[in-house]
Amino acid sequence: MRTIRITEFGGPEVLRLVQAEVPEPGPGQITVDAAYAGVNFADLKARSDGYRVPSLPFVPGLEVSGRVRAVGPGVEGFRPGQAVAALTPSGAYADVVVADAATAFRLPDGIGPRTAATLPTVLPTAHALLHEVGRLRAGESVLVHGAAGGIGTVAGQLARAAGAGAVYGVVSSPAKAEHALAHGYDEVFTGDDFAADALRATDGRGVDLILDPVGGDTLRRGLGALAAFGRLVSFGNASGDEPWQLGQADLIASGRSVAAFSVLALAQSSPGTLRLITERALSRVSDGTVKLPVTAEFPLAEAAAAHTLMGGRTSTGKLLLRIADQIRRP
Ligand SMILES: NC(=O)c1ccc[n+]([C@@H]2O[C@H](COP(=O)([O-])OP(=O)(O)OC[C@H]3O[C@@H](n4cnc5c(N)ncnc54)[C@H](OP(=O)(O)O)[C@@H]3O)[C@@H](O)[C@H]2O)c1
Repeated sequence: MRTIRITEFGGPEVLRLVQAEVPEPGPGQITVDAAYAGVNFADLKARSDGYRVPSLPFVPGLEVSGRVRAVGPGVEGFRPGQAVAALTPSGAYADVVVADAATAFRLPDGIGPRTAATLPTVLPTAHALLHEVGRLRAGESVLVHGAAGGIGTVAGQLARAAGAGAVYGVVSSPAKAEHALAHGYDEVFTGDDFAADALRATDGRGVDLILDPVGGDTLRRGLGALAAFGRLVSFGNASGDEPWQLGQADLIASGRSVAAFSVLALAQSSPGTLRLITERALSRVSDGTVKLPVTAEFPLAEAAAAHTLMGGRTSTGKLLLRIADQIRRP
């Protein structure tokens, strides 16, 4: 089978297509004949910085759709041929992908493999950021960084559907602002000082919930844009800055709080909780509340082009790798 493998960290050119043995599922696992794999910013971080890479060689890829190929010992609820999608800690850039059955799900009616490959990472993450971690209440305001990307596109729509009073986005270009405004956002900031923009938009009150995948100085400035009792959820470090550290003195004056979330860590620590969140969030796709447009699709062999596009900060929505043409549905 074909797989994309890295043997060193670096630019998109380190993603090389190679032949590999077809894997067999271990206890609690399934293998999937892949139709599509989603491209995530974390894949770029793995490739360039070794983010969550236990050792080299390494096969990137956190999410896959396709059909169950084989079922490992102890697995219930899956059989060969079923249409599925799965979250996996690595390995999705391949013809055959191993996934824990605990983080795989059968596709609901009406969700085809192309849509399904966009969901395993983004959908539960956006839901958890807003609801389980961020505890969004109707009428509250939300600010989301990276509002035109995969997470941002879904978070805007989910926040609006939850009755948020105002949904603000932050993006790096006016073209991205257009995309975000079409996906749930009321106002999108493109300037250098999102915190000042947020305070202006809220008449100085600040926002109730900030979703921050950037870290560093952006996280610090976000604290200054929180309303009294506001929450900031950290879920990435796109800036590459030192990990943040905060103390009581940063939060005490207005009862602010800071939380953090990782869908991959939750998949390891509590896969049952992740399954519940995914099911809740999937219902919002099935009922049409949330759409995550695929804005570019590349053959598996051209994974490097997908990384170049996302790394250039011009992509919107979701990028996919097309692996097989086994099932052609939307
Ligand atoms: N914790 C979790 O469970 C979890 C799960 C999935 C994703 N994430 C994080 O969520 C973010 C979005 O992931 P995605 O896969 O959906 O990617 P994406 O948003 O489709 O694309 C990458 C995003 O990163 C932003 N970006 C790129 N370089 C940046 C930089 N140097 N500083 C600040 N922002 C930068 C871009 O936004 P602009 O160009 O508009 O700034 C763009 O929105 C990533 O940071 C990712 O690590 C976390």
